[in-house]
Amino acid sequence: MTTYHLRGASPAKTRADAVVVGAWKTRQGVALADGAEDVASALGRSLRPLLSTLGFLGKPGEVARVPTAGKLATPLLVLVGLGERPRDRAAELLAVRRAAGVAARSTANAASVALALPASDPGLVRNVLEGYLLGGYAFSRYRSTSPDQRAGTVSVLSSVARRQEATSAFEEAQVVARAVHGVRDWVNTPAGDLTPPLFAAEIAKATKGTPVKATVLDEAKLAELGCGGLLGVGGGSSAPPRLVELRYSPADAVAHLALVGKGITFDSGGLSIKTAAGMETMKCDMAGAATVIQATLAIARLGLPVRVTAYACLAENMVSGSSMRPGDVLTIYGGTTVEVLNTDAEGRLVLADGLVRAVEQEPDVIIDVATLTGHMMTALGGRVGAVFGSDEVVESLVEAGRESGERHWPMPMPQDVVDRVHASQIADLAQHDWIRWGGGLFAAAFLREFTGQRPWGHLDIAGPGFHKGAAAGDWTTGGTGFGLTTLVDYARGLSAPAASGV
Ligand code: BES
Ligand code: ZN
Ligand code: MN
Repeated sequence: MTTYHLRGASPAKTRADAVVVGAWKTRQGVALADGAEDVASALGRSLRPLLSTLGFLGKPGEVARVPTAGKLATPLLVLVGLGERPRDRAAELLAVRRAAGVAARSTANAASVALALPASDPGLVRNVLEGYLLGGYAFSRYRSTSPDQRAGTVSVLSSVARRQEATSAFEEAQVVARAVHGVRDWVNTPAGDLTPPLFAAEIAKATKGTPVKATVLDEAKLAELGCGGLLGVGGGSSAPPRLVELRYSPADAVAHLALVGKGITFDSGGLSIKTAAGMETMKCDMAGAATVIQATLAIARLGLPVRVTAYACLAENMVSGSSMRPGDVLTIYGGTTVEVLNTDAEGRLVLADGLVRAVEQEPDVIIDVATLTGHMMTALGGRVGAVFGSDEVVESLVEAGRESGERHWPMPMPQDVVDRVHASQIADLAQHDWIRWGGGLFAAAFLREFTGQRPWGHLDIAGPGFHKGAAAGDWTTGGTGFGLTTLVDYARGLSAPAASGV
């Protein structure tokens, strides 16, 4: 077990196995960051030439380990690069968050670590600890040998350590990081071990001992309700679909937020089958569901005065004699008929059932999260999510991401695309566009049809939901948990409208 402390102590005097400081890359060379002042003066003039000999420039991801030979209370000084000094607050938070993630992997064998990264306000404190906790994530369920040891004591050093806002930010960061770990664990679990029934059971288990109530709707119940999207998509799998509904209803709720997540536990494409390469990472296609479930748990653990109703739409998109076919018509919960034209555009079908269920609860706002389209990955790459929806919701989601280490980019839903959603030859709506371009826009416009004109936001996280490369900053290989901090911060904004401008 690791314990975490927020301290005001000087990094030069703090006793630990290693002390971590940040370094900006400047035109004049390395500049030690805010928080490292004492370290700089204790080491004096010897540090700069040493860093130059080591070739340390302060680039993001760069690490220099310097034995302190008695000049500091810690035997080892670890410098982590922060990159060039950012122009805005969001970039600064992100730089610090990523450096803290690098720090976690660079001090894996130290029994105690002191982090003296920039932490002069509560937002920075939060990003230091979240970055550290997320960068140190490891998925070891399938390893027969246990991974690196974790530090027993981690101290975050901050000049505002005694401020109430800083201690709350510090506590909250631990709740949020635990939830992101939960998302990563689920996303990283192989699809064969997390079919819709198994995932539903895991979700129910995760709510035990929390104020969140879970209801699992099985295939018989879904048939009774007429959830044709989930049943159609899930029909090809021997593991039947599930709809998991969560409810968190605090007595002091000031707003009602509905969350809907895409939970395709494996996406083979169905009869419109994917290529082998296209399928490789498709265990990640339930990341949206994992994110909304863990966000609900985090909001409840933080005790935010926001009522949350969450829907995890779980199905496995497989190939068999009972798979839905291109050309089939499905009836979504509530009666809207949809002509299926590409069985690989399955996410919108399961989300449609969930969205209509959400609308019935008359929430103030609905947000869905989905690894929905490769198109948005093509457009924005692996680090930035696409956001669609009502203007004020989109704006608040982008802002929530800026505070919490995630970048979302607003995307349009042009009228010609909206028109084509209504252009099915035989049903109310067409599920797939005959025009190949802008497929993420069509998907979003399709979803909007099921939102009952309520304020709505849609996060397409196909790019940033899963990280194929090596660990970098606060991201480790595999599931990232992208979207979670944004949802929790968005809920925070709903509970404090004056402060956040929502
Ligand atoms: N799950 C995929 C989207 C995806 C792609 C997520 C890459 C993560 C990484 C989704 O179900 C899908 O297959 N979308 C199609 C949509 C098309 C058929 C309109 C796609 O991206 O090609
Ligand atoms: Zn999919
Ligand atoms: Mn698909």
